[in-house]
Amino acid sequence: GKISVAIDGPAGAGKSSVARIAAERTGYVYLDTGAMYRAFTWAFLRARTDLGDAAAVQRIVETTEITAERDGVFVNGTDVTASIREPAVSGHVSAVAALAPVREKLVQLQRKTASTGGVILDGRDIGTVVLPDAELKVFLTASIASRAKRRWLELRAKGGTESLAEIEANIAARDKMDSEREISPLREAADAVHIDNSDMDLEETADLLCRLIKE
Ligand code: C5P
Repeated sequence: GKISVAIDGPAGAGKSSVARIAAERTGYVYLDTGAMYRAFTWAFLRARTDLGDAAAVQRIVETTEITAERDGVFVNGTDVTASIREPAVSGHVSAVAALAPVREKLVQLQRKTASTGGVILDGRDIGTVVLPDAELKVFLTASIASRAKRRWLELRAKGGTESLAEIEANIAARDKMDSEREISPLREAADAVHIDNSDMDLEETADLLCRLIKE
């Protein structure tokens, strides 16, 4: 039968590309939880919310409905699939992801999506917090240099103009905030399969993931 798969790791390790390929090949449902935190970040930026204002944060959390599906990411019906990849969102997402009301709402949504089984979720806290009972946990990582290079190629293909140095700095800053935050920091689950794909391409990594899913 189909299992639940949790993929965690630092920014730019290729989690979402690999998870998407594996989901397509295995017929699993894929959920990009990072896109959900990005969507909330987009909503806060648009509303010019002061993240230190708990009441304002609560108001946005209560009135914002986020869906992340195959055809894109939506905030109250607005398609934000492209906007959530912009540098302004990447620069603020770790601060938004550290807000308790945001995490509570999104974790609940993620568990609901996963409750059908046959799912691959990728993020930072999937194996440790969201799905601690997932049958397969993978911690996907790579050197900062190869992660930055990969993200740079990906963004450039989509018309992005950020330099390799800017991307590397952004990734390093996000990793630091994501692993040092109080709630659900980026952690490798004790029972995760550890994969360093610095010297593998995404296709090879996806092959490995598919083998692990079928085992
Ligand atoms: O996966 P991606 O790099 O797009 O995630 C964007 C940000 O969302 C991360 O840097 C992190 O701050 C946050 N995130 C999180 N927990 C998750 C997934 C993402 O805190 N499960």
